[in-house]
Amino acid sequence: MDFFNNHKKLFSSALAFFLVLTLIICILPALDNKKINQPLPGSVALTESENNGKAVYIREGCVACHTQQVRNVDMDEVFGSRPSLAADYARNRRLNLFQNTATLMGTERTGPDLTSIGTRQPSKEWQYAHLYNPRSVVPESIMPSYKWLFLVKEDAAPGDVEVSVPAAFRTGIKGKIIPSKDAQDLVAYLLSLKQTDLPTSIKPGEFLYKKAKKPAAGASGSSLPDGGVLFTANCASCHQAGGEGLPGAFPPLKGSPVVLGENLELFVTIIMKGYNARPEFAEMPAVGTNAGLKPEEVAALINHERSSWGNTAEPVTAEQVKAIMDKIK
Ligand code: HEC
Ligand code: HEC
Repeated sequence: MDFFNNHKKLFSSALAFFLVLTLIICILPALDNKKINQPLPGSVALTESENNGKAVYIREGCVACHTQQVRNVDMDEVFGSRPSLAADYARNRRLNLFQNTATLMGTERTGPDLTSIGTRQPSKEWQYAHLYNPRSVVPESIMPSYKWLFLVKEDAAPGDVEVSVPAAFRTGIKGKIIPSKDAQDLVAYLLSLKQTDLPTSIKPGEFLYKKAKKPAAGASGSSLPDGGVLFTANCASCHQAGGEGLPGAFPPLKGSPVVLGENLELFVTIIMKGYNARPEFAEMPAVGTNAGLKPEEVAALINHERSSWGNTAEPVTAEQVKAIMDKIK
């Protein structure tokens, strides 16, 4: 047997072995993957601005701290309505022969998953203030600030949106803080991040290892869920934990005439449909509808806001709220 002594035979069989393995392990699965994973029918391609924003996201290294994958485990349920599928990433096309597209699924979750950030936090004003300095809206945040994505201008040109940054975070800055084109594109990209609804014929995967949910016991022993927890999850990012809001962007709920007033319909409508009544404040998105809040949850929120931070007003019932929610649907 001269196999091990014949370099031609040795080399050509190693090469053949290598090529066959490459075909089986890489090329065939890749082709198959491409064939069976098409973009979901409801998904939309990124616009030019969103695509630029994705490039900024890559350039600034956001993927170091943020994932874009909802795993099928219970703890990920807060990040999306269903576990992610391969089809969710099927719009990522190869850039050219040598460059693939980053999927940005990420591996580190120093910050929250961003798969559905466009649904969870659709407020542009919030996103700008947060990028400029995360601590201006989330006091305990450890995310770096991205000030270099903003310009300081003496006067805002037509079309410029001024970012409302509280005085404590703008020391030494004279003028208006305006998002650069990169910041605008980045925020457009963030707001485009939404989970696509599955076609009705496909059943979404389940979240595994579910923990037993705490029984819905309200703070005052009522049967409503905990309004404080709901407030932290849905409202505190803008109205702040102490209900004091953020001057020039988000109004205070402490002492608010809507919170303390008699017009429950207005209160419920603001929560479910959003609010844009005054130019001196940003626009409130349809927070309640986006989060799928139920009447008991809205009632618990209202009662929490009516009895916190020195506010005192009569509590409401889930039935009262449900009647209004049915009416304004
Ligand atoms: C060093 C880690 C780190 C980096 C880098 C980072 N972030 Fe964050 N991010 C965080 C942390 C921690 C939070 C949670 C606290 C907060 O909301 O600020 C967060 C929160 C967020 C949120 C709000 C998420 C939510 O569910 O409310 C968004 C949006 C966001 N980051 C976008 C970005 C973008 C865009 C970049 C890149 C320009 C980036 N982050 C870079 C750590 C990071
Ligand atoms: C993305 C930021 C944001 C989030 C999250 C948010 N709000 Fe608002 N909210 C606003 C803004 C901005 C306004 C003022 C809009 C205007 O007046 O034009 C507002 C106004 C209000 C008002 C009217 C206050 C007044 O005195 O006029 C109430 C009540 C309110 N929000 C309740 C809530 C509740 C309850 C939640 C949570 C379910 C919530 N908001 C979540 C941004 C937000």
